[in-house]
Parts: sequence; C-alpha cells; structure tokens
Amino acid sequence: SEYETIIVEQQGRVGWITLNRPEALNALNGQVSEEVAAAASAFDTDDSVGAIVVTGSEKAFAAGADIKEMESKTGAEMLDTDHFGAWTRFAAVKTPVIAAVSGYALGGGCELAMMCDIILAADTATFGQPEINLGVVPGMGGTQRLIRAVGYYKAAELILSGRLIKADEAERIGLVSRVVPAADLLPEATSLAETIASKSLPSLYAAKATLDAAMETTLEAGLDVEKRQFAALFDTADQKEGMAAFREKRPPHFQHR
Ligand code: HXC
Repeated sequence: SEYETIIVEQQGRVGWITLNRPEALNALNGQVSEEVAAAASAFDTDDSVGAIVVTGSEKAFAAGADIKEMESKTGAEMLDTDHFGAWTRFAAVKTPVIAAVSGYALGGGCELAMMCDIILAADTATFGQPEINLGVVPGMGGTQRLIRAVGYYKAAELILSGRLIKADEAERIGLVSRVVPAADLLPEATSLAETIASKSLPSLYAAKATLDAAMETTLEAGLDVEKRQFAALFDTADQKEGMAAFREKRPPHFQHR
C-alpha cells in the first residue's frame, strides 16, 4: 500500500482509516497527518464511499501529537509545520466521518476525534487534553472544538487541569455520541457507517455542510446555509426518488446524484 502509518480499506460503501503506529500509541506525526488527509481526500472524491470511519487500536485511538517530533522545534517552525494544513484538509472532507475510539484519545488524538462528525467510544476509552502538563496548549483545534462540544466550563476545566475522563463522563458531557462495550465498537461503527452510507450522498453532503455552518457561524447565517442546501437538493435525482418511494410505500433506490 502507498501508506506506512495507516491501514486503508473500503468495505461496501464505507471507507476505513486505521491508525497504525503501535510503537508510539498512534502518536500523530507529520507523516500520519499527511497520510490520513490523503486517504480521507481520496475517499471524499470517490462516489462509491458514503461514510468514513477513523479508528486506532484497542489500546490507543491516538495518544496525541508526536511529542518527540515537536520537542525541539521553535515557535516559527511550529507555525510553519505543514501538518496543520493536513488536518485542515481532513476536517474539510464533505463525507460524514465517524471516529471509533478505543483506549487513549489524548491531546491531538482527542482533537482528531473532534474533527469527525460522530464519536463512538468503547467503554475503555479515555479522553483528555493533557497539553498543559507539557507546558503547551491544545494545538489541533482542541481549544475551539471542545468548547463548542461541551460548553465553556467543562472545556475550561479539562484544558486548564489536563484531567483525563473516561468514556462514560465523555458521553455525559456531550463529547461522545454513544458508548458501547469494547467488543462491540467495530461492529457498531460498521453498522452506523453502513446506515449512513446507504443514504443519498448529496443529502449527506448537505447535512454535513449545515452541521458545519451551525458550529461555525451565527444563527442567521446558518439558517441561510440551511435554506440553500435544502433547496439545492430538490434538483437531485435522489430527492425525486426518495419522495416517490415514500408515496409508493417502498424503499428508495438512491443513485447518489
Ligand atoms: C510520542 C508517544 C506519545 C506521544 C506515547 N508515546 N504517547 N510518543 N508522542 N504523544 C510513546 C511512548 O514514548 C512510548 O514509546 C510508547 O508510545 C508507549 O507509551 P507508554 O508511555 O510507555 O505507555 P503507557 O505507560 O501505557 O502510557 C500511556 C499514556 C502515555 C498515558 C497515553 O503514553 C502518555 O501520557 N502519552 C502522552 C499523552 C499526551 O501528553 N498527549 C498530548 C500530546 S501534545 P517508548 O519508545 O518511549 O517506549 C498534543 C498537542 C496537539 O497532542 C497539537 C499539536 C500539533
């Protein structure tokens, strides 16, 4: 395969990206970020993929950005570091992305999960932004996305103290969509991804665009995005098919256009 730090495969309409640096608990170095972004972009431009799952190992989704790679860098070098660009490309994919998290999702690992649309967690998962213990702060979106996910006061406590939380607390505060027994994580992720991928691709793209707008803009601007996305779908074959199928009391056969 063209990738060294991830395993990429497609099963049906679901694209899988499995982080695979077991010697470093899937720490996210520059190569990982480039490979994840490239694999996600390739799935994103492929109409035979309707959902992407990102996962890691049983022990670690990802234990953070690679501390050993960053340690000796200067501020100017960090600003220049291109893997921020890679993560920006990853976060911009139009296809729905599920993070299936088992074990550690710390620092950049938690931030990678938060770049996804849905976070499914094994009951063994641990989340946190421990960067404060390293003399830094979250740097892959954690300061912004965690607040939007769980609210200011929960986010502030986690970011300022570095406290790690287990899956049940992560679910309670709204960081995690659902917690499942560890043995069920991949089957549940498969089932959810297949369900999503069976929907019409243009409507999935539209749904994700409206969700993104809700995260990023004002209510008024977001409602305008919704209005345009909603209307645009009425020019797709799948909208005609979906509504005809309802009227004819049969399942829709979407063509993803
Ligand atoms: C580089 C890492 C790593 C990391 C683990 N390893 N996390 N290497 N970067 N983030 C390496 C260890 O050095 C070790 O390699 C191997 O993985 C196994 O880790 P252990 O520590 O031996 O495992 P364990 O004792 O089970 O402890 C697990 C752990 C701990 C609690 C998750 O590894 C840990 O605290 N990791 C760092 C977590 C963290 O601070 N993350 C935030 C990073 S900063 P060797 O070869 O030494 O045996 C960040 C900023 C994001 O993410 C923004 C930036 C762009």
